[in-house]
Parts: sequence; C-alpha cells; structure tokens
Amino acid sequence: MKSIVFATNNKHKIEEIQAILGGAFRIIPLSEIGCNEDIPETSQTIEGNATQKAYYVNEKYKVDCFADDTGLEVEALDGQPGVKSARYAGPGHDFDANVTKLLKELNGQLSRRARFKTVISLVTEDNEMLFEGIINGTIITERRGKGGFGYDPVFVPDGYNQTFAEMPAELKNTISHRALATKKLVKYLQEHYK
Ligand code: IMP
Repeated sequence: MKSIVFATNNKHKIEEIQAILGGAFRIIPLSEIGCNEDIPETSQTIEGNATQKAYYVNEKYKVDCFADDTGLEVEALDGQPGVKSARYAGPGHDFDANVTKLLKELNGQLSRRARFKTVISLVTEDNEMLFEGIINGTIITERRGKGGFGYDPVFVPDGYNQTFAEMPAELKNTISHRALATKKLVKYLQEHYK
C-alpha cells in the first residue's frame, strides 16, 4: 500500500485525514519516522510555514511528505492574528487568552468579518503543491458553545447560526477550512500519487 508522511504528531489530524482518504493510502505520523524534534515554523505567512515544515521533513528524512498550517484572518485587523493565531496573546498563552484578546481588539470595530485559512504543502520526490481551504464568517461578541478548540466559540461560518463550537463535530469537520484543504489534497493523491 502507498504511504505518505504527514508532518504532525496530532493523532486527531491523522485520523481525520485517514478517514477521508479511506484504505488506499496509509498516513504516517512523524513519530513513526523517528522525527521527534520541533520543526521550525519561522515564516511570516501560513503558506510559508506549511512549506517550510514539509521541506524540512522531506530533506532531512528523505520521504514524501505534506504539512499543514492554519490561521484566523480578521478583516478589521488587517488579517491578524493570521500566522500568529496559536500565540496571539503571547507565548505560553492558551486558546482562552487568545479569544479574549481577539474580542478586545474587535471592540468598537465596524466589521467583524473573518476567515479561517488552512494551507497544506505537499513535497514529493518530483513535485511540490499547495492546497488551500477557506471558510468565511463572522466573529461574534461573546463565546458560545463548548465543542471544538481555538477560536471556535466566537466564529460563526457564513450560512449558519451556530458557532463552530456549538455545531456537531461531524458538521464542522465537513465544512471547515481544514476539511476543504484536506479534500483537495486527497483528490490530488488519489488521481496523481500512484
Ligand atoms: P494549526 O496550524 O492547525 O496548529 O493552527 C494554528 C492555530 O489556529 C491554532 O492554535 C488555533 O488557535 C487556530 N485554529 C486552527 N484551526 C482552528 C479551528 O478549526 N478552529 C479554531 N481555531 C483554529
């Protein structure tokens, strides 16, 4: 069976993509190739970070590999927190502190439009590709819902009334930025990666 390395050790992400891919491929986590170090993510863009991670693993471990990076881009904040989404409130801060900072920054702003963007970079022996998934929505003024993670309690995707944290996980995982990028990668792998 054909296999490919996903530059993550996040079990949830591995299971999610394996479920979409079905049995035709096996997704290999970093732990299985002996990569236990922190992979550098020093780019100023989401695309750059995904590409940096995929190349790092490809070059050091000589394997075909893909890597993802995600950020929340808020219109009134000139696309912030963007590539800094995980550490918006500063190093060592958690999801809750990031959401508190976001709500504070948006206080009094006319636009609350935002989008989640995921970029997946695929680096193989003879090719390099990017796959993007975007979902547009609105940042509400107070947290709603207990599901999901990150900015989910304050993000309402266009066409829905619930936040990502209120909707069933299966629904979020079908319409999300990550799902959209993942489906593009899967289609490419199924058609071209033999
Ligand atoms: P990562 O690139 O998947 O690690 O995501 C970076 C950061 O973006 C996370 O630490 C979260 O703050 C935020 N994020 C990514 N995906 C989601 C999501 O589906 N919902 C809410 N926040 C997310």
